[in-house]
Amino acid sequence: MLTHPELGKSIYDLATPCLVVDEDVLRENIARMQARVSGAGKELRPHAKTHRCLSIARMQVEAGSRGVCVATVGEAEVCVEGGIDDVLVTSPVVPPGKIDRLLACAKKTPRLAAVVDSAANASALSRAAAAAGVRLSVLIDIDPGLGRTGVPFDRAAALAEEVDRMKGLSLRGVQCYAGHLQHVHSYEERRRACRETAERLEEVLDAFRRAGLCAEVCSGGGTGSHWIDCGFPAFTEIQAGSYVVMDAEYLAVEWKEGTRFAPSLTLLTTVVSANRGGWVTVDAGLKSVYHHGAPPRVLRPCGLEAEYEWFGDEHGKLLLRGRKRPAPGDVVELVVSHCDPTINLFDEIFVARDGRVVDVWRVEMRGRSR
Ligand SMILES: Cc1ncc(COP(=O)(O)O)c(C=O)c1O
Repeated sequence: MLTHPELGKSIYDLATPCLVVDEDVLRENIARMQARVSGAGKELRPHAKTHRCLSIARMQVEAGSRGVCVATVGEAEVCVEGGIDDVLVTSPVVPPGKIDRLLACAKKTPRLAAVVDSAANASALSRAAAAAGVRLSVLIDIDPGLGRTGVPFDRAAALAEEVDRMKGLSLRGVQCYAGHLQHVHSYEERRRACRETAERLEEVLDAFRRAGLCAEVCSGGGTGSHWIDCGFPAFTEIQAGSYVVMDAEYLAVEWKEGTRFAPSLTLLTTVVSANRGGWVTVDAGLKSVYHHGAPPRVLRPCGLEAEYEWFGDEHGKLLLRGRKRPAPGDVVELVVSHCDPTINLFDEIFVARDGRVVDVWRVEMRGRSR
């Protein structure tokens, strides 16, 4: 039985700045993405790096997702400890200490998988796995042109052949996440670029099949490309993350009609000073709204025309564009700029229904970047 002191309160009586998730909207986002991906005959593997919260990860799995993606070993540890047994670590795990922790997770769940983009890293993983008595499932990480991690398309099959010969590893297929395409503003341009990526991927998967290499998993796609990638045969699973809460960056791009998700997460901030004509000052600054991409959007109070600007560590500036002028003490609800790093600034998320706090979720993976 939860006895959090904030339970039952109106969200507008919470101490700010704080994060609030509207449970109905969140559940609707989870259900819609699951239905779309399942309807396309694919698996959904939502990225838990977005919310870093076990309660949300469990809801996604209960709704039918295959498991989750995580970006770090620290996140994988929390998920496995928290009972989520099908976990893909989407970034290469390289330092020996982290490899040991990864394998400790793999010992707890054989459904844990990692990605590799070099023979040296693969053989380090293989040696450590053999010594630990486990066979680690791996995907070849393919770089779709972002340049962050992954091998170029034309080197994927050669790396897969090497991995296939390694005793401690079990080759399962590929990962190809086009992070640079997710926020391409024009839907048509995004679709064209995603198509090119999918065609290159098809060639790689053909090369795998010709060489007798396992290509049963092809994992990729994000919130901005999920609908497009669901239409390509190459992908077997979709890794979308942000859709569950949404943010201002994703609200700013073009969507195919009817495919946009509603923001379920907002940041509440209070007006603390209103002595200037053109703006008021609120209590959410860099320490609570991560500074990246599109500026946060003012969602409520309705009719307040204002633009948020970062105004130092603890403060934000609401530039007033209309006649409505909030007073000190008034609470303003913002859609945050970029959801993942903003959630990582908070220990807990207040869960609301009809404007009242019904639950408080811990952000268990907060700070688990190592
Ligand atoms: C490898 C990988 N897959 C999936 C995602 C989820 O993308 P999105 O939050 O745009 O849905 C990310 C996000 O950065 C990622 O790095």
